[in-house]
Amino acid sequence: MTVSIPSPLTSDADWWRSAVVYQVYVRSFADSDGDGIGDLHGIRERLPYLRELGVDALWLTPFYTSPMVDGGYDVADYRDVDPMFGNLADFEAMITDAHALGLRIIVDIVPNHTSDQHPWFTAALAAAPGSPERARYLFADGKGDDGAQPPNDWESIFGGPAWTRVPDGQWYLHLFDPAQPDLNWRHPEVRAEFEDILRFWLDRGVDGFRIDVAHGMIKAEGLPDVGFNSMTTGRRQSELLGKGRLPYFDQDEVHDIYRAWRPILDSYPGGRMAVAEAWAETPQRLARYIGPDELHQAFSFDFLDATWSADSFRKVIDTALAESTIVGAPTTWVLSNHDRQRHVTRYGDGEIGLRRARAAALLMLALPGCAYLYQGEELGLPEVLDLPDELRQDPAFLRTGESRDGCRVPIPWSGELAPYGFGPAGSELSWLPAPTTWRALSVAAQTGTPGSTLELYRAALRIRHTHPTLADLGGITWLESGPGVLAFQREAGDTVLTCAVNISDAPVVIDGYGTPLVASATLTERDGGHLLPVDSAVWFERH
Ligand code: GLC
Repeated sequence: MTVSIPSPLTSDADWWRSAVVYQVYVRSFADSDGDGIGDLHGIRERLPYLRELGVDALWLTPFYTSPMVDGGYDVADYRDVDPMFGNLADFEAMITDAHALGLRIIVDIVPNHTSDQHPWFTAALAAAPGSPERARYLFADGKGDDGAQPPNDWESIFGGPAWTRVPDGQWYLHLFDPAQPDLNWRHPEVRAEFEDILRFWLDRGVDGFRIDVAHGMIKAEGLPDVGFNSMTTGRRQSELLGKGRLPYFDQDEVHDIYRAWRPILDSYPGGRMAVAEAWAETPQRLARYIGPDELHQAFSFDFLDATWSADSFRKVIDTALAESTIVGAPTTWVLSNHDRQRHVTRYGDGEIGLRRARAAALLMLALPGCAYLYQGEELGLPEVLDLPDELRQDPAFLRTGESRDGCRVPIPWSGELAPYGFGPAGSELSWLPAPTTWRALSVAAQTGTPGSTLELYRAALRIRHTHPTLADLGGITWLESGPGVLAFQREAGDTVLTCAVNISDAPVVIDGYGTPLVASATLTERDGGHLLPVDSAVWFERH
């Protein structure tokens, strides 16, 4: 079966179609001033590492002025850099160097909510119910005789009610933390403000935006109840994310916003793009965010959610490629990000998890489309599961007991002692502690080490960039393979690249696909073919 993707465009403006984008969680990437917190100058110093790794672009999580209640996804000033991360001049120096190295920069934009410290929200709190200041947010009167009940049954994604009452008796909506009040996107000033913010960063040379909670900005008219929540039935509304309809997500009107944004992006040269972090009921509804008059990409989290089984991967890949054919835009493959448990751990942790994660990387990087890597996955970092509770900073932890801190531990760069070169020489600080096992996983420890995960990523990315079969979008052809084995080909002229992944419970002999180019585990010769161990992947080349 052949699944093809339309018109493999590779001109500069279409760079994002087959790019490998590396997500930098700014706070945890590299600390240049020794305060234990990553910063923009730290990124700038490490650009050569990223260049050598072989990625095309970086996506930077929010570095704007913020009280950091939600790791910077609570923005108080959208046009400035938080002093913790540096200043605008540092941003400009970083992007200039990145561009000189051929690396593009995507920044995060957080339009669904501001920080409660944003001047608009402090003004709204100081103003009276019904005032123009309150109209930029979603204030409402409560239910019951004295208005002491929230306006509806909506639940915060971080747990608990999505409404908080202010001293004069009104309530305001926050789909996330109370420190992240939702904006009213039916208000023209809100729309105008964000269009201006886009231009502010486009003028500073950014190549794209990752749109946070891109499905959330419009809420159903009348703010209707969902009908259940964890307080009433014990069932959390967030269970419906990606599976069902909620009155506060994926409303049709949200698309008007992106139809207004696209001409702004298109008015700048060089292919400025936007990728949505969006959750919708079906892949079809997710695909509606993508198109020539809306956004360029939407993350497909189905690949990340696939379980470690050949059937599960095959299904997700086929669905994603079929969707991308319909919308004429490439799939975005993601295995990990700053919100989800790292895939080494999801796949079983320890040695097994790492073997599988390495195989998954070769699977992902052989697929057509754009791949998003999360910092540290190239080192095979696992989730840190045993962080002391008092160090955890994720606001969701206090409300639900679930914490995303374990995937946000600072990157180990070098040396014998934690934090392993995260800061300048001699610095012992890091905002979350790295486990002692990470000494062996540092960039320095893995560089030049045959068989290391870092060298595996480097090799795979080098081939991805230079191999004719992987250089454009092309399509894939599934091959007949035994149970638990995934095998597909990509072709260019006479050259064929075959990717095979063994997810069965026994080694398999793979024969007839040519010479191995890169493998996630050691192959041995057997019966004239190659023996592919359990939980491993290989790329072959044949002419
Ligand atoms: C997105 C971000 C997440 C953040 C939330 C609220 O899901 O990825 O980190 O907590 O939005 O802004």
